[in-house]
Amino acid sequence: MLHMHVTSWILGLILLLVALFLYKQGNAKGGKIVHMILRLFYLIIIFTGGYLLFDVYLANFSMPMGVEAITKGLAGIWLIAAMEMVLVKTNKGKPVTGWWVQLVIALILVLILGYIRLPLSF
Ligand code: HEM
Repeated sequence: MLHMHVTSWILGLILLLVALFLYKQGNAKGGKIVHMILRLFYLIIIFTGGYLLFDVYLANFSMPMGVEAITKGLAGIWLIAAMEMVLVKTNKGKPVTGWWVQLVIALILVLILGYIRLPLSF
């Protein structure tokens, strides 16, 4: 499950960049297709992350790791929201800096919690 989680968020970040590139090139149709595939990956990321959270951390809740894992999940959802908003705003030609800032903060938080604080790795 961890392997699937990591594979899906890496592919998600790649799809984000491809969709951004296509939208910026004015290829709205191509961007939309990649964007829809990315939305499918959001679901896989949330499902695999949610599974890990319940299976590993909530089933045997302990402090402080339980709370850190919940925070990791919330930061992951925040990151997905920022990815979606960056794409939607870019497509509409609206200001997007605030969402980029949130994306970077959420990504840093998720990486620190996932790789430095929480114990699972493969
Ligand atoms: C784009 C969004 C996300 C990214 C980039 C991300 C990234 C990561 C990373 C880097 C790890 C550590 C992998 C490792 O140690 O090998 C991880 C693990 C984990 N993620 Fe996510 N994640 C995201 C979304 C989520 C969501 C939405 C949830 C919960 C609903 C979640 C729950 C977890 C859990 C419980 C772990 C195991 C923590 C551990 O012990 O290392 N993640 N994720």
